[in-house]
Amino acid sequence: MSVTTTPKLRQRAEYTHRYNTRLGRHGWLRLTPAYSLRVVEELLAGCGPHLRVLDPFCGAGTTALAAANRGHEAGTVDINPFLVWFTRAKTATYGSREIVETEAAGEAALQKVHRRKIGPVEEPPMHRIERWWPSSDRMYLRYLKAAVEDVSQSDQVRDLLNVAFCRLVIRLSAAAFNHQSMSFKDAAQSKLDLAVDENDLFRQELRFVTEGASYNPAARVSVVLGDSRAVQQCFDESFDVVVTSPPYANRMSYIRELRPYMYWLGYLQNGREAGELDWQAIGGTWGVATSRLGKWQRAADVRLPDQLLDAVGRIAGSGRSNGSVLAAYVEKYGEDVARHLASVGCVLRPGARAHYIVGNSVFYGVLVAIEEVYATLMRRAGFENVEVRPIRKRNSKKELVEFCVSGTWSP
Ligand SMILES: C[S@@+](CC[C@H](N)C(=O)[O-])C[C@H]1O[C@@H](n2cnc3c(N)ncnc32)[C@H](O)[C@@H]1O
Repeated sequence: MSVTTTPKLRQRAEYTHRYNTRLGRHGWLRLTPAYSLRVVEELLAGCGPHLRVLDPFCGAGTTALAAANRGHEAGTVDINPFLVWFTRAKTATYGSREIVETEAAGEAALQKVHRRKIGPVEEPPMHRIERWWPSSDRMYLRYLKAAVEDVSQSDQVRDLLNVAFCRLVIRLSAAAFNHQSMSFKDAAQSKLDLAVDENDLFRQELRFVTEGASYNPAARVSVVLGDSRAVQQCFDESFDVVVTSPPYANRMSYIRELRPYMYWLGYLQNGREAGELDWQAIGGTWGVATSRLGKWQRAADVRLPDQLLDAVGRIAGSGRSNGSVLAAYVEKYGEDVARHLASVGCVLRPGARAHYIVGNSVFYGVLVAIEEVYATLMRRAGFENVEVRPIRKRNSKKELVEFCVSGTWSP
């Protein structure tokens, strides 16, 4: 069965990442790629106990943490090393000793910053960094980063301090996250100037992080840095359920959104690296990724559904200057998804139910009904009982809808 849209769908904030922000570890960092814990909870609620849950597109680790909190073992993959680091920190087990050590290390770091007892780290080489933070706040962050490195006696302490540091990085920034992707408020103004005690801001963030860290997940999580177009290379064991949200074909770059964290934590050194990583990612389209699309050709061994090829043809023939690049973008997205769906069965046990949360898109008036593309590719890959269920409207454009596409692995 397949459904394209229903007239009564609402935009539902509880089905977006906004729902996660106050929920302990789920609220540690506000990452645009995150979906709502609520969606995951609802899908997992229908499953039995002690399962192995797979999320091949980890992002901020929402599925992995939700599954582990319910006592399911989880395996998850992401191509972005920052997200792998973050999800490992978010799903780790912390003892009360580590929490006490982290709090003490945080205070020691703040003393060093206060007395300027340590040299600052280099400024991250971000393009137009002054748009993000005014120079006084950047300098404070540079001292704080150096102090965090200096006082961290163990990886776990360093991880928790760095999560709190990332929270402060965003709290001080001039970026606005009220759209689907981030934008800038008019001018970066110091927020530290407004604080009675500048160090108190970091203290607040660290308190939120250590509070979340004191509630440990009930099961183990394995977080793999890898490519889900070849999931079989990431795990030896098989899984009972898949709950995931792959990148959408909407030209949103996760790397672009994650820049502040990735630069401050040293995961990016320059724009070229950012573009390279985006090119590796499914749906990436930033910097070098866009220019490469111009030369990209679909591999001969991948067969795409007719409805996708039809949309690709109409986008290319739209007469718009970017028509051919956007058509290649959508076609490459289809190829990547086809590769993923052809590989995921290798790590599923027969009967495993897979749920993909996906969003459709529109390019130059051409609707790309990606939910239908997933449904067709899942059937071809060996899934049965494939269903498409609309979940919510994505924004004010009435045709943009989020769907859950589900199927049962039946090799
Ligand atoms: C929509 S986000 C997932 C969000 C996640 N459900 C959450 O709540 O945070 C999609 C993720 O897929 C990752 N990704 C893109 N291409 C990938 C690939 N080839 N293999 C593994 N992960 C990939 C991106 O880095 C991004 O984190």
